[in-house]
Amino acid sequence: MSFKGVTIWLTGLPSAGKTTLAHLLGNKIREEGITRLEILDGDVVRMNLCRDLGFSREDRMTNIRRIAFVSQLLTRQGVIVIVAAISPYRESRDHARETIKDFVEVFVKCPLDVLVERDVKGLYKKALAGNLPHFTGVSDPYEEPLHPDIQIETDRETPEASAMKILDVLEKLGYLPETLSREKRKSAP
Ligand code: ADX
Repeated sequence: MSFKGVTIWLTGLPSAGKTTLAHLLGNKIREEGITRLEILDGDVVRMNLCRDLGFSREDRMTNIRRIAFVSQLLTRQGVIVIVAAISPYRESRDHARETIKDFVEVFVKCPLDVLVERDVKGLYKKALAGNLPHFTGVSDPYEEPLHPDIQIETDRETPEASAMKILDVLEKLGYLPETLSREKRKSAP
């Protein structure tokens, strides 16, 4: 079955849950029988395509521009692309939307105090101690989306519930077929 491509763009503070959600969502979409899917994760992209970039405003803009470029190529070939990148600037997310067109912006939201508490990578601690300049949310800005297509609150919802929320929107927008397996899941107690 061939469906229209789309980029699902997950933006949010470091450790808000973007990567976890990207993979869970990816697996769920694959379970629907759609295998033309790619995940572009900031951490991974920065190890290859964007190895040369740091965390200045200019470098982050370049990072997001490159991710948007690749996403656009894939999307127009009918691929479902899931991007998980902080993408802190409205300007670059808007540019991504304009470039890609079939674009669903998902704000992966979590309060800073919860993130500091979680601190999966230990980076918040370092930044709060003043040892990590330009760390998003502490020593560097994050511009919240004003009108995201979907808002996820990872301190209140399970990753499972968040993924289902995104699937529902994709289906409503016509990017996913209403399959039997999802119908079954919806009617499950
Ligand atoms: S973005 O701002 O350019 O969109 P991206 O999502 O690619 O960022 O990369 C973020 C990852 O880089 C984080 O998951 C974190 O592990 C790592 N990182 C290292 N230094 C920083 C920093 N100063 N600010 C944010 N993330 C950082």
